[in-house]
Amino acid sequence: MARHGTSENVNKVTFERSGVAWVKWVWLATMKIGDDTRTTATATTYDHDDHADHGDHDTARITNADLPLAERDSAHLPGHWLLARIGKRVLRPGGLKLSLSMLAHARLSGCDVVEFAPGLGRTAAEIVKAQPKSYVGVDRDPQAKAIVQKVVASMSGRCINADAAATGLAGACADVVVCEAMLTMQTERGKDAIVSEAARLLRSGGRYAIHELGLRPDELPEDKKTEISRDLARAIKVNARPLTVAEWKTLLEHHGFEVVWSGTAPMALLDMQRNLADEGINGALRILRNIVRDKGVRQRVLTMKRTFNKYADELCGVSLIARKR
Ligand SMILES: C[S@@+](CC[C@H](N)C(=O)[O-])C[C@H]1O[C@@H](n2cnc3c(N)ncnc32)[C@H](O)[C@@H]1O
Repeated sequence: MARHGTSENVNKVTFERSGVAWVKWVWLATMKIGDDTRTTATATTYDHDDHADHGDHDTARITNADLPLAERDSAHLPGHWLLARIGKRVLRPGGLKLSLSMLAHARLSGCDVVEFAPGLGRTAAEIVKAQPKSYVGVDRDPQAKAIVQKVVASMSGRCINADAAATGLAGACADVVVCEAMLTMQTERGKDAIVSEAARLLRSGGRYAIHELGLRPDELPEDKKTEISRDLARAIKVNARPLTVAEWKTLLEHHGFEVVWSGTAPMALLDMQRNLADEGINGALRILRNIVRDKGVRQRVLTMKRTFNKYADELCGVSLIARKR
């Protein structure tokens, strides 16, 4: 039983606080170094999670070679896989807190759950903890499939390699479909096809939980939306078409859903506080080490961060839960 107020506890708290303060200082300094050309060391290997210690949560042991597009150079890697390469595991815009809130509202316990685009299985690990009846992941990337398969093995879950727009799964097989950080990168037609597939998989009354990149306010002018999409695509090297909260809602309603819950969070994927919260002290330190050691990575990360900062007022993480009518 933990006793509060002992000198041992006080020392532990002091140690943790100074650790956090130190990471904060290094994080700010690293982002300030920027693409200073004097720091030219180029790493060919990256520090990875030799063990699962991202926050307090279990994830699969993932090495560099396990990651999608492991052979591609950092200059041409899609932003999310670049961040995964340097050790980031929570790859969605609103962070872990918004994901956990969404999962709680989706009520997973005892349910048949399908997750579109589980990626590195970070959310899959949380879904397993909620004790669903079954889990099926659907990711079009073979490496992601292999990673997720390990994460859900303990509950006999599985992950298939398929496009979320045409999963091949039986209709009305799920009570909950979860999808994070994937619809944003689809075209308008792609978004429609995937939401329509989610509707097909869900039983009546089933819940579709999404966590995506949002734009605000709802009245944001069209030319600003186009500018943001263009700048994001340049920075992350993936097409990104975020929608306003009202537009996400309309998209879901158009496919026969009724939105029953929504939440937003700042888009803080590369902010220090968010990384401490999502990845833990060790995870944040690992990310910093990998940024400092590789100039190419550093330039990419800083370009992304500058773009996110430039549109900090307009971008947000948004999560919605929609019930199939
Ligand atoms: C940014 S990651 C998000 C991963 C995870 N959901 C998360 O939030 O951490 C995008 C993932 O979507 C997958 N993906 C993208 N388009 C897809 C599609 N049409 N069908 C299935 N998976 C897709 C990619 O392979 C990748 O694993």
